[in-house]
Amino acid sequence: MSVVEKAIRKLQEQNQQPGQIGAATGELPQIHPPQGVSPEPVLDGATASRLPGIVLERAVLRAAGLLPPEEDASLLARQYRKIKHLLVAQAIGRGVPRTPKGYLIMIASAMSGEGKTFTALNLALSLAMDKDLNVLLVDADVAKPQLSHVLGLGQAPGLLEALRDPHVDVESLIRATDVPTLSFLPAGVGAEEATELLSSTRMQQVAELLGRHDSRRIVVLDSPPLLQTTESAALTHVVGQIVVVVRAESTPQPVLLDALKTLEGHPSVSLVLNQSTRTVTSAYYYYGYGNERPNTDSA
Ligand SMILES: Nc1ncnc2c1ncn2[C@@H]1O[C@H](COP(=O)(O)OP(=O)(O)OP(=O)(O)O)[C@@H](O)[C@H]1O
Ligand SMILES: [Mg+2]
Repeated sequence: MSVVEKAIRKLQEQNQQPGQIGAATGELPQIHPPQGVSPEPVLDGATASRLPGIVLERAVLRAAGLLPPEEDASLLARQYRKIKHLLVAQAIGRGVPRTPKGYLIMIASAMSGEGKTFTALNLALSLAMDKDLNVLLVDADVAKPQLSHVLGLGQAPGLLEALRDPHVDVESLIRATDVPTLSFLPAGVGAEEATELLSSTRMQQVAELLGRHDSRRIVVLDSPPLLQTTESAALTHVVGQIVVVVRAESTPQPVLLDALKTLEGHPSVSLVLNQSTRTVTSAYYYYGYGNERPNTDSA
């Protein structure tokens, strides 16, 4: 068993016990130390769920490649600060016209392995440093739920269960984390009919419910690759902003253009250049792409 597998197993065991919100290590964001163990953690009203909260174990996430090496963390933090600035501005209409449903931000890419999951997690952590926001990270890569797996919730009910059954309250499946302003919705179990579920009107409804729950909420959705799955296309129709992660010097230009074609007509698409070789492991450059935003938010 690899070090990563061992670490994930340890975390899974830990997260099966109710209510352990513990200290985690790392720079991003500041973790509030535990004030004692509660069997049903309720954190700042960020989630109405009564399911056990989870600990974002920095060492485990780092070992799984979902956080940068410690020596790159502050550089990455600076880069994400820039990236999130415009996304938040568009979501809440700060200095720019508000993007309809801009609080729903999908992290996409043309192909697998470009850094969507890495970006979704690190962006969510960066957003969660803003105490005016409540950030909900959603594992919408239901066919390959890496985040859910690494966080020890690979078999936990989540988005899929809420989509399958309209009587399920999606809020009840959200997990609080040890970061008070960050919560997590796992992918759920059994992805056979994923495309149908993600393109259903119930998905529209769930997305709307997630946004309506809390006016300070920003929802970050990890997703499957645009050109390799059909689920991803379905998701693009429910979100207000799409961030396309492009792996520097890896994604062929025609492939990227094909992916962007699938997003034509979407009101807000942006690109993040990931893993530029200008730094050891990560560098980000961000620019808007084809943004034609209406002036008002009808959502
Ligand atoms: N900025 C970064 N710095 C360092 N490593 C990174 C960075 N972005 C991605 N990686 C690494 O690249 C690999 C792929 O990243 P990730 O799993 O996020 O891709 P993905 O687009 O979600 O892939 P998939 O579509 O298969 O889910 C991972 O091992 C991750 O650790
Ligand atoms: Mg992924």
